Amino acid sequence: MARRWRILVTVIALALAGGLTARAQTADQAWLGHAGYHGPTDIPIFAKALGSGILEKTAENELYGGIYRLRKASSSLPDGSMDGRIVLGTAKEIQLHFPELKVPDNLEPEGYWLLWFKHNGHPFLAIVGGDERGVLYGAFAVLRTIAEGQDLHFTGLHAQPAMPIRWVDDWDNPDGSIERGYAGRSIFFEGGNVCADLAPVAEYARLLASVGINGVNVNNVNAAPQLLDANHLKQLARIADTMRPWGVRLALSVDIASPQKIGGLSTYDPLDPAVRAWWKAKADEIYALIPDFAGFTVKADSEGQSGPVSYGRTPTDAANTLAAALEAHGGIVLYRAFVYNHHLDWRDPKADRARAAYDIFAPFDGKFAANVVVQTKEGPIDFQAREPVSPLFGALELTSQAMEVEITQEYTGQQRHLVYLAPMWKQVLDFGFRACGQGEPVPTPVATPVKEIVAGKSYHRFLGGLVGVAGVGRDNWLGSPLALANLYAFGRLAWNPDLSPEEIAEEWTRQTIGNDPEVVRTVVKMLMQSWPAFENYTGPLGLQTLTDITGSHYGPNIESSENNGWGQWHRADHDGVGMDRSVATGTGFAGQYPPAIAQLYENPATTPDELLLFFHHVPYTYQLHSGKTVIQSIYDSHYEGAAQAEQFVRDWATLEGRIDQPLYEQVRDRLVYQAGHAIVWRDAVVQYFLKLSGIPDEQGRAGHYTGRLEAEDARLTGYKVTNVTPWEDASGGKAVSCTEERGCSAEWTWSGQPGRYNIAVQYFDLAGGAARFTLKVNGQPDAAWIADASLPSTRLNGDNSTRYTMRGVDLKQGDLLRVEGIPDGSNPAALDYIEVTHTAH
Ligand code: GCU
Repeated sequence: MARRWRILVTVIALALAGGLTARAQTADQAWLGHAGYHGPTDIPIFAKALGSGILEKTAENELYGGIYRLRKASSSLPDGSMDGRIVLGTAKEIQLHFPELKVPDNLEPEGYWLLWFKHNGHPFLAIVGGDERGVLYGAFAVLRTIAEGQDLHFTGLHAQPAMPIRWVDDWDNPDGSIERGYAGRSIFFEGGNVCADLAPVAEYARLLASVGINGVNVNNVNAAPQLLDANHLKQLARIADTMRPWGVRLALSVDIASPQKIGGLSTYDPLDPAVRAWWKAKADEIYALIPDFAGFTVKADSEGQSGPVSYGRTPTDAANTLAAALEAHGGIVLYRAFVYNHHLDWRDPKADRARAAYDIFAPFDGKFAANVVVQTKEGPIDFQAREPVSPLFGALELTSQAMEVEITQEYTGQQRHLVYLAPMWKQVLDFGFRACGQGEPVPTPVATPVKEIVAGKSYHRFLGGLVGVAGVGRDNWLGSPLALANLYAFGRLAWNPDLSPEEIAEEWTRQTIGNDPEVVRTVVKMLMQSWPAFENYTGPLGLQTLTDITGSHYGPNIESSENNGWGQWHRADHDGVGMDRSVATGTGFAGQYPPAIAQLYENPATTPDELLLFFHHVPYTYQLHSGKTVIQSIYDSHYEGAAQAEQFVRDWATLEGRIDQPLYEQVRDRLVYQAGHAIVWRDAVVQYFLKLSGIPDEQGRAGHYTGRLEAEDARLTGYKVTNVTPWEDASGGKAVSCTEERGCSAEWTWSGQPGRYNIAVQYFDLAGGAARFTLKVNGQPDAAWIADASLPSTRLNGDNSTRYTMRGVDLKQGDLLRVEGIPDGSNPAALDYIEVTHTAH
């Protein structure tokens, strides 16, 4: 391609800022849109609910609306409809109308049974619910079946949710901001109050019900106590009313100090009679407004939140006080085990945040009230790219338990990176504790997978479940189209944890993007490869996400986890890396697992590679099961992960023309951004460990970048060389930054072989201004773009280091390559380097 005048304005900024989603927010923008549906089918178009309850009416409406949309979307529908009608009802209603049907007698609440049958010679599809909610879930199952192009002639399909608690938590604040939300403002709150327009909430409830989610906690666990005042409770009742037609119940996070903060009491001691009475009266007030209120979630004594410890009380004292207040109304308390000291002494080799949940909660097993559920994060730290399963799951045999996972990608790329989390959750759900049972050492420990523990099956505690921190906002729910696969997968796994992540990915893809086999194959493959890729270029071998843990939780900042009280240490030094959590020489965390597992983790030789550095401090030259040394594995995995991110761009490109074009473009731009950011991650971690260990990469890549021209080595006009913090976030630790209003430039003379090249410009896109860049070859502008993506941080670092690539530029020796930057606001048009790589195209 001959060089020509091209001015390109990057669309990354738009895509990342969520600017593509100005339209109204509906559930159809997610999987219920059935966008890619192309027959084959003749679908019954008549649906009738036998009962008159609201949930059955919703089910009937959903079927009408859904079938209408599917018929409209399909280009291959025959003219007529299928001969047959859909009839919906509870088992009792169906039995009354169709006594000849043998409805299973074990149909429980929320379950459904689907049967294709003939009555008086006419075909019917019966959607039979164990209760009304079951009818609704059955209706959505039928829609899903049609959308996936599957056969509707059910011969008696019986489905039952695996666990009763299938909730999402949205950490929304009354001012409309969202803790760890990456998709715009709250759909629930604005300006201190519940939003006037709750239409998006109704759409959200539809979306959730379609995958069987039955509860939403709508406010931040770092709870705003004013939400419990009379005025706000009335407002919150509107949210409950809005979600009720979809069987989704409202829950609230509460501040344990509320009796003092808003109740006018002088104490919040959970054992004080006045405090107990306050909670009781508050619960009565809530239930008068919201009769189906689901319950309270509590974060106490954690990260600065008030808690029972202030009065020398225990988690059971606090949880049971709340439970007593809710009990008469059927409400429950989800008491979070995310309790730890964030002022740990990092010099103490025995100190270990990972121990906290078990140390604090295990002694109280059997002491919680029957309507208390201990809600434990999947791993012992905090939603990292990889952690072992929390040992607490295996320790609470006499307590109901829920597992908390994070759908919003706080530590996993914040929705700017494609990371399908179902495979990670699934590993945890399938993890077998091999518990011995009731404290009795038995010769053959039983499997006891987490999914059965939280479903209540293992220990006969039938009030457990799965809670997903969703973080939905006004920007297309999760801000990124493919991230919605995580919300979908969460619901499906909570319903049936035996489903495989691939199956779920396929279901989601068929419903959301299309049934074209090539599309399904490609999208499922990308989804399945995305978590391993992210883990590889962020924190492999159990190092956790090596991100800025005291700041954005986004870009690389390896030392941010060290030398502070937060306890996410990985203890890297010149000789080795990893945290010794063995019983023999370390913190003893490994001993919190049942013996068979504890033994496995106790010894580096039996610890799986992917968790080695979580459990052990080993020399960089330690040999893994893979045969590689630790250091070489760190190098290799980062290069592999970044290469995989680049491959996603190529994979997605094969879908152009096969899927909705705006969707295609939006995802393409995100993947291009991700591939660039994966290089930032790769280079940061690799150069950090190269410097620290002093051990070269066997493959010669670390520290050597073919075709890279550093900005600090360029002929600079106006630009000033600056150190980047942390140093590993910039190539060579340095960048150039501009404060001249009229702009600055960096120029290099090309001395390579003549040929066709791609020129990547690595720049910093700081928040607070739209800097402009131009890339010129021999004085001619080849590309121009604006750096105004919404990336974290107002300082130059790996959060906002971004790549722009100009493709197919013909170069010869002596050509002048020049980048011009014009700063704007607090964005100094900073540059790290350019990289010139040969291309055939
Ligand atoms: C993480 C997250 C916090 C959140 C906390 C929690 O640490 O960064 O924003 O409050 O988890 O789960 O309570």
